[in-house]
Amino acid sequence: MNVLDSELMIAALLREGYSLAESMKKADIILFNTCSIRQHAEDKIYSALGRLRLVKEAHPEKIIGVMGCMAQKDNSLIFKRAPFVDLVLGPGQIARLPELIEKIRAGQGPQMELSLERRGRGRHEVEDSFDFYDPMREATARLNPFMAYVRIMFGCDQFCTYCIVPYVRGPEQSRPVGEILAEIRQLVDQGCREITLIGQTVSKYHDKTSGTSLSGLLEMCERIAETTNLERIRFVTSHPNSMTTDLFEAVRDLPHVMPYFHVPAQSGSNAQLKKMNRGYSVEKYREVCHQIYETVPGAAITSDFIVGFCDESEDDFQQTIQLVEDIRFKNSFIFKFSPREGTKAYELWEDNIPDEVKRRRNNELLAVQNRISTEDSEKFIGQEVEILVEGTSKNANKLTILEGQDSNFYENSHDPNAILQLTGRTPCDRIVVFDGPRSLIGEIKKVKIVKASPFTLFGE
Ligand code: 5AD
Ligand code: SF4
Repeated sequence: MNVLDSELMIAALLREGYSLAESMKKADIILFNTCSIRQHAEDKIYSALGRLRLVKEAHPEKIIGVMGCMAQKDNSLIFKRAPFVDLVLGPGQIARLPELIEKIRAGQGPQMELSLERRGRGRHEVEDSFDFYDPMREATARLNPFMAYVRIMFGCDQFCTYCIVPYVRGPEQSRPVGEILAEIRQLVDQGCREITLIGQTVSKYHDKTSGTSLSGLLEMCERIAETTNLERIRFVTSHPNSMTTDLFEAVRDLPHVMPYFHVPAQSGSNAQLKKMNRGYSVEKYREVCHQIYETVPGAAITSDFIVGFCDESEDDFQQTIQLVEDIRFKNSFIFKFSPREGTKAYELWEDNIPDEVKRRRNNELLAVQNRISTEDSEKFIGQEVEILVEGTSKNANKLTILEGQDSNFYENSHDPNAILQLTGRTPCDRIVVFDGPRSLIGEIKKVKIVKASPFTLFGE
């Protein structure tokens, strides 16, 4: 979500005649697009801001902005903790970025624009004030011109008891189908070969006017792919309660829709799932996974887990291990519980699992997942896989554009025949590294796998 928001911010400024600076040092405007999902993400921003204090003293004309979820959550506290910040802008207000920067440049002082009043827990006290339309897309603002995210939903209404997202990203809303398809066509015209439909709970997608669900939307995307260079369609993140047979069948039947599902489980224990307000039992979760595997041959499932949530017992944790063993996720993103002020868990329960226990459980679960990932990766040795070549491996997955070091990483060597270490992904989203010329970037290619590590396949 933040990668997309950053792209839109960059695009908004490019259209006003700004350009990306080569480094933070050379920049006239420094914007931090922030996350508040865990304390650690916020701490990193406050320390990065701290490092800019002297820079701002020496160069008062430099504009420093804090954008995104932490801006929404901490709002005026940011001006207190870092009084030299000029701009605080919540998510969903990206369209206003150029105008606010102009105001600051015109000497109108620090500016703050938030998306909505903070919501009461579990209630919809405030109507949203979100900007529905993502501004025009701009290929040069993307990390990779061949791949793009497309927002299909805003916000979240799930109110998991540990999670800050519903408070900072606002109520769940589906974007109208017409807008989404128009944006996809625009992206395809710009040369996009892969689009990923994104939202906090995309499986709940529902266009009010046309009644379109996610499976219907995928079908419409498939129609676009049939007649254009669009090759791959993905969607993240799904919630098990809204994943129905039509979705699995759509993924099975639509050749351009990739057999990849990100379905966070969070825990394998019913007591924990209940306390988390996830809305499903572990039995229901397992059933969804089995249905995926039965309906979609070769499908990969990935998950998120929180360890050390309030009252998590050793037995609860062992049930999480068992779930990972049984479902054999392609990989899992594992997080230590981090209490977030304003959430139900923060208000009602003690964060009573000591950090060393959280750390141990994190490592233990990671070790099980790594073993499974290694075993499953090794099965690919000797096989031929189809990948979309994304770029050189040196820069893969790095938000270099945000560091301003190498904003055009796919174009940074001028010899078109030079053999580079390239990277791409399989339909199931496994990373493949192989040697080849730059001209392959943006192409779909077959690669033979010769070696495997837990999260990377090496091919020829
Ligand atoms: N502490 C730790 N992890 C969290 N997540 C969400 N909120 C918290 C929290 N307070 C994790 C969940 C979610 C992922 C994006 O972040 O696993 O799926
Ligand atoms: Fe947070 Fe739960 Fe919504 Fe995901 S579904 S964004 S974990 S509240």
